[in-house]
Formats: sequence, C-alpha cells, structure tokens
Amino acid sequence: MVNLGVKLKDLSLKNPVMTASGTFGFGEEFEDFIDLSNLGGILVKGTTRHHREGNPYPRMAETPSGMLNAVGLQNKGVENFCKDIYPRIKHYDTNILVNVSGSVIEDYVETAAMINELEHIPAIELNISCPNVKEGGMAFGTSCASAASVVKAVREVYKKHLMVKLSPNVTDITEIAKAVEAEGADSVSLINTLLGMAIDAETRKPLLSTVTGGLSGPAVKPVALRMVWQVFNAVNIPIVGLGGIMNAKDAIEFILAGATAIQIGTANFIDPQVTEKVVVGIEEYMKRHNVQDINDLIGALQIQ
Ligand SMILES: Cc1cc2nc3c(=O)[nH]c(=O)nc-3n(C[C@H](O)[C@H](O)[C@H](O)COP(=O)(O)O)c2cc1C
Repeated sequence: MVNLGVKLKDLSLKNPVMTASGTFGFGEEFEDFIDLSNLGGILVKGTTRHHREGNPYPRMAETPSGMLNAVGLQNKGVENFCKDIYPRIKHYDTNILVNVSGSVIEDYVETAAMINELEHIPAIELNISCPNVKEGGMAFGTSCASAASVVKAVREVYKKHLMVKLSPNVTDITEIAKAVEAEGADSVSLINTLLGMAIDAETRKPLLSTVTGGLSGPAVKPVALRMVWQVFNAVNIPIVGLGGIMNAKDAIEFILAGATAIQIGTANFIDPQVTEKVVVGIEEYMKRHNVQDINDLIGALQIQ
C-alpha cells in the first residue's frame, strides 16, 4: 500500500487529483463515467453573486494542442447554487470546492460569505482572473495591489480554506503569489488560462465572438510547470498545479515541480474518465519507483 493522501494546510485530500473549474460542471455530469469518491476534490463551475448569461457564441475554438474559450462565467448565481445545486451534491464523498468569481470586490465578498455558511463546502477557490470593473477592466490578478485587496476583503468573511487561483497573464507570478499569501491565502492554484487568439484567414474573422480568449490544454503545460516551480520557490503555502495535465506522467511532473495537489481541466473533454485514470497512474508510478508516500515527491525535482 502506498500513501496518496496530501494536505493543503488544514484541508485533507485522499489523493492529489482534483478537477479544474469550468470543465467538470458540478460533478453530477460525470457520475455516469467515474466514481467521484475516488477523487481528491471537485472544483465546481465558476460562481458569481448574480446570474450571468456568458458571452455570445462562438466561444470555444480548437487550436494546436489546446483550446481557446470565452465562456464568460455563465452561471445562475450563488443563491441558485446554495438553494438548488448544493443540496444535490453535498453528499459526495470528496472535497467540493466552489470557484468564486466577481466583477467588483463586493461581489466576491458577498458570494464567499454565502458559501461560508454551507457545511459541506470546506474551501473556496478565488478566481482573480476576472476583469475588475471599477479599475478599467484589468484582471484583479494582474497587479499585486488589486490581488491583495480582493483577498484581504474575502479573508475577513471567509473562515475556511481560502485557495487563490492565479492568472498567468503577468510579468512575474511570484510577486502576485507573495501578495496573496501576505493577505491570508491558505493555498494558491495555478495556472488559469493564458490569453490567446485565433483567426480564420478565409473569412478574415476571429474564431471567438470576443476576439481573444483563454488558452488551455497541453499547449500551456510548459508555462504552467515553470510557474509552479517559480512559485514553489517563492512562498510557504501549498500549491495546486494545473495547466495541460493529460495523464499521470504530467501530474507527477507538477508534483515534482512543487505542487501538493493538481487539477485536470481540458482533458475531461477528451476523456471523461481521465481523473480516475490519473489517480491509478500516480499509484503505479509510486510502486515502480518504490515511493511509499506521495508527500516525498512534492518539490523533489533534482536539479543536478
Ligand atoms: C471551458 C472552460 C471553462 C473554464 N471556466 C473557468 C471558471 O469558471 N473559473 C476558473 O477559475 N477557471 C476556469 N477555466 C480555467 C480552468 O479551470 C483551468 O485553469 C485551465 O483550463 C488550465 O487547465 P487545463 O489546461 O487542464 O484545462 C475554464 C477553462 C475552460 C477550458
């Protein structure tokens, strides 16, 4: 028997494999494919204070080794989540984390305060890649000051595990990571999508209605891995790594770079059973390499 259990500070995970927000619905959609209790955690859809329609179609495009999306946080709002969705999913035998998004700080605060009351939700993931409406639309997560201010405000009302999801669209991600750690983040997850764009030369039109969108999938993995490694060397809080993880080998690479846990996003669209397969694959890797405890692999990259 090998130990796959990890801890994100006070939050215990039976294994390091979680799903990435926006790619796994509320978990329910995957119940026919996998046993959700085999996962370390589920990150549910981005949830906002109010109902959002999302962006006009087309809002997804395939690109070499990846995809672009501009879904625009379509969701029915936090009240609907608490009343209709939470009662349906609260019995899952895994950690359910709510991904919280907003346009102004008050949105984040009110949403986090409402989720704080839900007994079976042990943590939230704060998505700071959203445009900050009051500051001209720059994402909260692209400056230390605005990232710190949203985390500080949420920390005052949210009493459980606070994970902050970092944007890769910055000059130095370690500065943002340090800023949110200083305001009380319990962990950081990275990366969110990289800003990208695709054009159809025949029609001379962009492939997305919003022109630009978020790139995910294997194309972003080297960037994500580099950022996890940099952040691991810059902060003391645990890191959840994601970006282009398609199989157990990719997951192990993130753990070696410093991730305590990982999330799987785009790969769910290709194989709805990929998460369970990654758990099995990590265990096989450990047996093959004679590793008894997954925690011995975290940050165990050998530079020389
Ligand atoms: C269709 C789609 C919707 C997404 N929605 C969200 C979201 O609501 N909140 C969020 O923080 N990230 C969202 N993301 C970003 C993913 O959670 C993840 O950070 C990113 O896709 C990189 O991981 P991957 O390469 O494994 O997909 C979304 C990604 C995709 C592809």
